Amino acid sequence: MDYHKTLTTERLTLRPPRPGDEADLQAIHGDPEVMRYFSEPAWTDPERPARQIAADAADFAAREQFRFAIVLNDTGRQIGNCGLCRLHWPNRRGEVGYALNRAYWGKGYMNEALHALLRFAFVDLDMHRLEADIDPRNTASTGALERLGFQREGLLRERWIVGGEICDSVLYGLLRREWAAHPGENR
Ligand SMILES: CC(C)(COP(=O)(O)OP(=O)(O)OC[C@H]1O[C@@H](n2cnc3c(N)ncnc32)[C@H](O)[C@@H]1OP(=O)(O)O)[C@@H](O)C(=O)NCCC(=O)NCCS
Repeated sequence: MDYHKTLTTERLTLRPPRPGDEADLQAIHGDPEVMRYFSEPAWTDPERPARQIAADAADFAAREQFRFAIVLNDTGRQIGNCGLCRLHWPNRRGEVGYALNRAYWGKGYMNEALHALLRFAFVDLDMHRLEADIDPRNTASTGALERLGFQREGLLRERWIVGGEICDSVLYGLLRREWAAHPGENR
């Protein structure tokens, strides 16, 4: 399987994580508002960014999962990340995940990054179906998915217990043929 390790869009470069990304990564995942609907709290351990970068870089190289750093071309700084995990090659499906530094919300950056990620998944990796598992209260995230054509497929009740709080999940799905009908459109 041949695939692109760097994806480019008008304003962004998506590339594998690497040492040097620690401060930008901490700025994203150290923010309790960004982490509000994650299954773990905001990062406080100073070693955590380096550990995550090492794990993500190794997973990327081994094609276990693909987490891209989203870099703003104008500044060269990482403003977020997005990726594919829980890849199930026999069924050609995987799950998308993403987070953006709060200072960059509301500017269409994740929309732009996810367009590139979807193309990577459906063209480079030949995926058939992508999924996302989202807290239904996370309307910024459900909005981002719906703009890309993901369909809300079902509610999974009380699926996560995060810091003692019991949370539902909504499962979103996007099929390759649905994406192929509108590959570059901003919906
Ligand atoms: C989910 C998340 C990435 C969405 O960020 P976002 O900036 O709203 O996402 P998008 O890139 O799709 O941007 C859409 C917004 O930008 C606006 N926008 C501005 N310029 C735009 C452009 N050129 N193209 C598209 N949208 C644009 C849209 O109008 C929309 O604003 P609205 O939500 O007020 O209607 C962000 O809220 C986040 O990081 N949340 C925390 C992490 C998280 O919960 N991740 C998901 C769980 S795995």
